[in-house]
Amino acid sequence: MSRSHPHTLIIGAGIIGLSIGWELARAGGHVVLFEAGEAGRGASHVAAGMLAPDAELEFEETTLHALNTESRRRWPAFADALEADTGADVGLRTEGTFIVADDRDAAEALQRRHRFQRDQGLDVEWWSGDEARAQEPFLAPRLSAALWSPNDHQVDNRSVVDALQTGVRKHGGRLHEHTPIEAVDPDASRPAVVTADGDRVEGDTVVVAAGAWSRSLDGLNGALPIRPVKGEAMALEGTSTFDLRHVVRGPDAYVVPKSDGRVVVGATAEEDGFNDDVTAGGLYENLEGGWEVVPGLLDLPVECTCASFRPASRDNAPVLGPVAPGVVAATGHYRHGVLLTPITAQEVARYIRTGTLSDWIEPFQPARFDTVSPDVAQT
Ligand code: GLY
Repeated sequence: MSRSHPHTLIIGAGIIGLSIGWELARAGGHVVLFEAGEAGRGASHVAAGMLAPDAELEFEETTLHALNTESRRRWPAFADALEADTGADVGLRTEGTFIVADDRDAAEALQRRHRFQRDQGLDVEWWSGDEARAQEPFLAPRLSAALWSPNDHQVDNRSVVDALQTGVRKHGGRLHEHTPIEAVDPDASRPAVVTADGDRVEGDTVVVAAGAWSRSLDGLNGALPIRPVKGEAMALEGTSTFDLRHVVRGPDAYVVPKSDGRVVVGATAEEDGFNDDVTAGGLYENLEGGWEVVPGLLDLPVECTCASFRPASRDNAPVLGPVAPGVVAATGHYRHGVLLTPITAQEVARYIRTGTLSDWIEPFQPARFDTVSPDVAQT
């Protein structure tokens, strides 16, 4: 690769890196993306594409929930713009999400969750098992209760990634696959990246969107405390008699019917470094967890099994904003990478163009980890 001077260098061509690249490129910016493997084949590929901030709300995550909710609000316009720009269908579905309980313990946990959701003013309703089955007949007969979350939707993440690649290229962006980046060289006016082959490429800004691998880049002095959290999932082939319409989140697995007919069942959460084996235990966990809430899925042919790594920060919230002179982080999206794509792309692109951090991403800056003691910083 020859020495060049593109404006924005993006490390990582998953859904986050691609969406930032698309935002910048369609506004006339020059972007170059570097991807260690194939674009969009990591966590963006394995994900189920849930846009479900209310269903996935965890206690103590209210600041993150505000960001998640705003990004969900932006999804329809983002999908429309991407489809109009590329001619793709990104499979945005708005049938809503059920969160279900399959025994007394799960029902009690669901009640606690519901109280918290109501305290937060969320539009989530408590339904009996029968009420839920009247709306979604594929739910298991033994389910006793469900939360109905009408505003939690989903998108076809694989189509989104394909469309983003089309969009980046259409607007002159360049994408180098199989080009791992080893190091970042921060500099306020001319930051650079260094490839595994030793090529140095300079730009105006470097964006680190390398997901679970963001921490392994040399040159950032451990400023991105990101760890991999493995998720194993499987895709089943829908059949003409299997007409699950809603996203179903059970106590041990979720089941997501996609617009192209696939049914995604997932996902495990394992902290075991970068071991990407699809294991018998992971398959069992997903199948049992899926079967408990949607038993009909056992009849479906298996299309594929897969595993990838969610990028999780120390507080499990995303890491967005300046991390070193000339270097911007867009990583650590953990369970919400697809959901947080529009707001990440738009607000990070805005920061790169204007140098001003919006109120949306200000609480998620990498600098929040600076005060941590060196012992904790190793984790
Ligand atoms: N948000 C789904 C997952 O992390 O598995």
